[in-house]
Amino acid sequence: MKRLAQLACAVSVMAFGGAAMADPVDDTLILNEDITMVTRTAAPAHLEDAVDEVLSGWLFRGTETRAMQADDFDNPGMIFVEQAEDVWNTAEGSEGKSCASCHNEPDTMAGVRAVYPKWNEAAGEVRTLEMQINDCRENRMGAEKWKYTKSNMVNMTALLASVSRGMPINVAIDGPAQSTWEQGKELYYTRTGQLELSCANCHEDSYGKMIRADHLSQGQINGFPVYRLKNTKLNAVHARFKGCVRDTRAETYKPGSPEFIALELYVASRGNGLSVEGPSIRN
Ligand code: HEC
Ligand code: HEC
Repeated sequence: MKRLAQLACAVSVMAFGGAAMADPVDDTLILNEDITMVTRTAAPAHLEDAVDEVLSGWLFRGTETRAMQADDFDNPGMIFVEQAEDVWNTAEGSEGKSCASCHNEPDTMAGVRAVYPKWNEAAGEVRTLEMQINDCRENRMGAEKWKYTKSNMVNMTALLASVSRGMPINVAIDGPAQSTWEQGKELYYTRTGQLELSCANCHEDSYGKMIRADHLSQGQINGFPVYRLKNTKLNAVHARFKGCVRDTRAETYKPGSPEFIALELYVASRGNGLSVEGPSIRN
């Protein structure tokens, strides 16, 4: 019986194979009537012929959802940015320091979101923004680490994204980051789970199609963290990866795991050239 139910599920998920196309909208995102965002642009060279254009998930959302993101007063994600501003200025830990003690205003972080994940020479590792934040908390503030996808962390990543909005994603994939990038690429194209689907099967081969009630995008991460209308909170990149892997009925990796770090670098690089949009609004 259980197996039958699983099969029925698999069939309904696969049903998008023959489903209708719904093109991304022809629309321009102008933030606060001020910053024109790049939501579609020529694909970065490393994608070769996989896709011609890279498209922000914003182009696949409905009119109202798109409008919510265009104005900070309507964007519920900005409430969490404000919460993070308070945390930014709050001293914590054995050193009695706040983020502001060393970094001044959050604006000094403009451009940082756009280049992460990034190789850190001293640590000899590719670091996500979350890892860098926790490194500062542990080793510079003497404070406890934040959990990888919990509210303090995701709010802080929203604050850091917000001051980079409009800047092009530009993660480095060569040099010391290359082997991590290659690992991420392999994960992206590996079929997993009972449904035997890879990220690429949905987000490269089938974007534009309807899957159940959802308009399938390219699965870009330039809009993260995203405020989802579905769960009314900010969602981290690795939490989204986890959800997507689960949908293929596979065992998933943990947020913050080496696999998801590599996958994040690779997926970020597929969006090189798109504007940083976080916090964005999605279904
Ligand atoms: C005692 C000083 C100090 C405090 C407090 C501190 N940091 Fe840092 N932070 C640094 C230094 C130094 C670097 C550069 C370190 C490196 O490259 O490894 C850095 C780097 C960063 C970067 C990466 C910047 C880049 O250009 O790549 C981010 C993001 C960051 N910190 C966020 C935070 C946040 C958020 C907090 C508060 C939770 C915080 N930091 C608290 C000293 C501090
Ligand atoms: C069965 C199809 C399917 C597979 C396989 C799949 N996803 Fe998704 N994914 C979706 C759907 C449906 C959504 C929600 C609609 C959208 O934004 O595309 C989504 C959304 C996303 C988003 C959010 C995009 C945004 O703009 O908010 C990201 C990022 C993402 N997926 C990454 C991945 C990655 C990485 C993998 C592989 C580990 C993967 N997905 C595998 C169906 C899939």
